[in-house]
Amino acid sequence: MENQLPMLEKDVKKILLTNEQIQQRLKVLAERITEDYKGKDLIVVGILKGSAVFMTDLIRKIDLPLQLDFMVVSSYAGTQTTGQVQILKDLSVDITGKDVLLVEDILDTGTTLFHLTNLLKSRNPASVKIASLLNKPDHRTADIDLEYEGFVIPDEFVIGYGLDYDEKYRNLPYIGVLKEEVYMNKE
Ligand code: PRP
Repeated sequence: MENQLPMLEKDVKKILLTNEQIQQRLKVLAERITEDYKGKDLIVVGILKGSAVFMTDLIRKIDLPLQLDFMVVSSYAGTQTTGQVQILKDLSVDITGKDVLLVEDILDTGTTLFHLTNLLKSRNPASVKIASLLNKPDHRTADIDLEYEGFVIPDEFVIGYGLDYDEKYRNLPYIGVLKEEVYMNKE
């Protein structure tokens, strides 16, 4: 295993993306974002909690003045999506006329981003685009335009680098696959 977190790592089946692979990809994405948003009024909106780690690494590679904000939404209980998007915390600023970049850790069914982009577009921003570290297309039900994609991943239950299982494992420095036995007996 990559790091020294044995309490967490005993539940990891395999490492899918190392921290080094992630940082290299973020550099490429951040360079594109820097180019695309030059002269624009950029506000980066992190969708908590999953995007926290990705967002903090990504913004430190973007060479532009930018504003930050966060939303807290939730649609999952355990490993299953509920299909309902709850806004637990809304934006704290007005996005009228601003260029919004939504930052997500994972695009799965698309339910979350479908609802969020529609909601934010109704507030008259100049633009709304999406950056997602991971794209898991197998169960997509909504048509989502993903402008900045980190990695396409297979249909496995991934944890780490912000992603959780029952609120745990977010602090692993890489993306790993959770051992089935960890969630098999619980659902
Ligand atoms: C996860 C993830 C995305 C969403 C993606 O959030 O962070 O917001 O699910 O899935 P979808 O494309 O099927 O909608 P979750 O509800 O687990 O909350 P979290 O970010 O706090 O972990």
